[in-house]
Amino acid sequence: MKYMNGLKRIKKIGVLTSGGDSPGMNATIRAVVRTADNFGINVVGIRRGYNGLLNGDIIELNSRSVADIMHRGGTFLYTARCMEFLEEKNRLQAVKNAQKYGIEGLVIIGGDGSFRGAEKLNELGIPTVGIPGTIDNDIAATDYSIGFDTACNIGLEAVDRLRDTTQSHEKCSLIEVMGRNAGYLALQVGIAAGATAVLIPEKNYNITRDVCYKISEGQKRGKTHHIIIVSEGCKDNIQAIADQIELETKISTRVTVLGHIQRGGPPTVLDRVMATRMGYHAIELLSKDIGGRLVGLQKNEIIDIDINEGLEKQKFIDENLYEICNVVAR
Ligand code: ADP
Ligand code: F6P
Repeated sequence: MKYMNGLKRIKKIGVLTSGGDSPGMNATIRAVVRTADNFGINVVGIRRGYNGLLNGDIIELNSRSVADIMHRGGTFLYTARCMEFLEEKNRLQAVKNAQKYGIEGLVIIGGDGSFRGAEKLNELGIPTVGIPGTIDNDIAATDYSIGFDTACNIGLEAVDRLRDTTQSHEKCSLIEVMGRNAGYLALQVGIAAGATAVLIPEKNYNITRDVCYKISEGQKRGKTHHIIIVSEGCKDNIQAIADQIELETKISTRVTVLGHIQRGGPPTVLDRVMATRMGYHAIELLSKDIGGRLVGLQKNEIIDIDINEGLEKQKFIDENLYEICNVVAR
């Protein structure tokens, strides 16, 4: 480790992807590696999330090894959940392994769970920076997480296709989108798809009042097909909702669960640019030996905040957006 102008200069860092993958993770790794190269910092890739730190699944990366990955969804470093990492003794082993490889700083790309691990590593003495990568966009510290825009667009494309057949057969399509316990993805897709109703876990709903009544009112106005978006975090079983709609409105109703298709595919422009900006910022921090931070976007500016502070924050649904959605959805 070199010291320049009184600052410790980090010579080697590791990067890993953890938790659910999201389109744009590859673009983030690329930005991390190339920016680090610019600062004269070597990078190793740690594979399969925190598992790679525990079992030494670590590879050298350079500017060439991250060529041609910008446009690919998923993560070429693989990602995984790692239950062993919840135990202190395993995290201590991970730190020893990191030291063995000469790793002096870490970039963790993932969601809240991954950041809890990042915070623990930082406490154990390895400067660690988190970058938000999840299609759920449920990380409170940031307005945006990498992969969200791509997942919204994939979801929208699927709904547009379903609309064609739903319209032709004059049916109702109930479409479940991902998002874990958060409704951001569903709300965004619902607005963009022109849904008749959008159900999200953050808001109480009543199927008769908020869905069937809207369908019946639409039928009176001559509307013959309906798109209803349901977030996977909603408490009700989606087939049970479909059965109730059929019973109360007499419209033939079909269920489609989009599932993991929303996590794949080439990242959008927004995700590639966001990945590049956030990856760059993470290395700016580590190059100054600053760890314990989460990179994020606030009011369109790339920012960083203390990991603990970030993890304590709570994210709320955009009330104004929800209101707009309900006004135009009919
Ligand atoms: P995400 O990062 O997408 O929220 P998870 O919640 O599954 O995904 O967390 C990913 C991984 O982060 C876990 O498998 C585990 O390795 C690590 N992790 C999660 N919570 C903790 C914690 N409290 N302490 C240490 N590591 C954690
Ligand atoms: O967090 C991303 C996400 O795709 C959620 O939207 C979804 O609930 C979950 O991961 C699915 O996890 P798994 O891939 O483990 O089934």
